[in-house]
Formats: sequence, structure tokens, C-alpha cells
Amino acid sequence: MNQLDRLRQEIDRCDQIIVSALEERMNAVIKVLNHKRNNWMPIFQPEREKQVIEKVLDQLKHKEFSREIEKIYIEIMRNSRRIQSKQLFPYNIVLIGFMGAGKSSVGEYLSKLLEMEWIDVDQKIEEHQGMKIHEMFDIYGESYFREIETEVVYEIQDRENTIFSCGGGVVLRKENIEALKRNGRLVLLQAEAETIYERLKDDRTRPLLKNQMAVSAIAQRLGERKQRYHDAADFIIDTNDKDIPAVCQEIICELMK
Ligand code: S3P
Repeated sequence: MNQLDRLRQEIDRCDQIIVSALEERMNAVIKVLNHKRNNWMPIFQPEREKQVIEKVLDQLKHKEFSREIEKIYIEIMRNSRRIQSKQLFPYNIVLIGFMGAGKSSVGEYLSKLLEMEWIDVDQKIEEHQGMKIHEMFDIYGESYFREIETEVVYEIQDRENTIFSCGGGVVLRKENIEALKRNGRLVLLQAEAETIYERLKDDRTRPLLKNQMAVSAIAQRLGERKQRYHDAADFIIDTNDKDIPAVCQEIICELMK
């Protein structure tokens, strides 16, 4: 055996140790998850993740690799979140609600917290068509947009363990809701017309509120859709006066009930 082969054997031995340690670690993560679940404890605790990384870095004999090891551990933590959310949510989490209810911001934050994939349906429609939603409304009209919206909903319905942020009008078609329910839990993010106005008043990208950015116009459209939102939802989260992390924690609690 030449010297290179001997050195490679050393690496192979390290890999055996790493792989079996990782396997053991992942099994331990599932045990912790089950314990927390049985005792109604919060599952995702970012402060605990920080402590784990600090503890690992403290153990290093040679600080020269600390940056690299930290990066690996950040990935290990992500992986743990993914393992846990796969066990907890073996379905899609579908966010519905009026414009400005926070579907996109909550979806993005939740996807990082749970390390789940995230699809913003409006963004997907824009990619599909190679144009912005407001351009689509201007050039082809709302009914064309609704056709494409349904096509995209059908395309994504079979996914698993994914978060969808839907457009506010997705509830207007029964077939959209049927498709989304097939493999998903529907979460209605709710906000008062005043809250929505405050969140959107400087936003020029919402075609349905173009030239109508007023609390009364929002309240009227919200009233027209309210029943559909409630009929479609598996549960409702009030987002008035709440920040995004608080909304996400409430969603997780409700899903785990
Ligand atoms: C719509 C809401 C928009 C977008 C389109 C139509 C609606 O999505 O899908 O402008 O009918 O409420 P957001 O709710 O994300 O703004």
C-alpha cells in the first residue's frame, strides 16, 4: 500500500465515525421530538440551536477549523429541523387570506423555521407567464389570470411537506380549494380592513386595489369573500397587531393539536 492509500484510509475511518455519529444524532433528534410532543413542549427553539453550536465550538482543540465546523453545524441544525418537520407535518401547509394578510412573509419565515420548501403561488404564476401579475391583469384581464392560477394550483397539489402562500383570490374557485385540501391543511390568515390598509397603502402592485386603496373598498371586498375564506379554512389565525414570528408559532401550535 502506498502512502496516499494509507492517508486515504485515515479519511475513510473518519467518515465511518461521522456517518454512524450522524445516524445516532438523527435518531436522538427524533427521540427529543417525541418527548417534546408528548409533553406539549415547544418544538422549534432557535435559542437552543445557538447553544448547541456554541458548545460544539468550545470543544474544538484546534480553532483553525472553527469557521468550517460552525458552517457544518448550521447545516446539521437545518437538517434536524427538516427531520422534525417531516415527522410533524407530512402534508402541505397552505396559507390563504386576503391581500396584505401576510401570506408571503409568513410563508417565507415559516419555511426557514421548519426548513420546509416554500412556494409563493403568485410568484410561480409570474415565472410561468414571464410577466408581473398586474401586467397580466392589464393585458389579459382577471379571468385569464384565474385560469393560470388554477393551472398552477393543479401543478403543485401533489407536493408534500411544502408551504404554499396562495394569492388572495384562490378561494374564488371551488376546484382550487378541493385540489389544495387533497394534501394540505388550509390556514386562514385574518386581518381587519384597517390593518390591511396600513400594510398596503404604499403598495402599487395589487391590481384589484388599483385606484381603490381605501379602508371602505378593502372592507367591501373582504366582506364579499369572507364566507369563502371561512369555508375553506381548517383553522384561522388572527394576524392583527402580531409580528411574523408570533403568527408562525401560533400556526405550529394549531397544526400540532
Ligand atoms: C388577488 C390577490 C393577489 C394576486 C392577484 C389577485 C386577489 O395576491 O393573486 O392580484 O384576488 O385577492 P396577494 O393576496 O398575495 O396580494
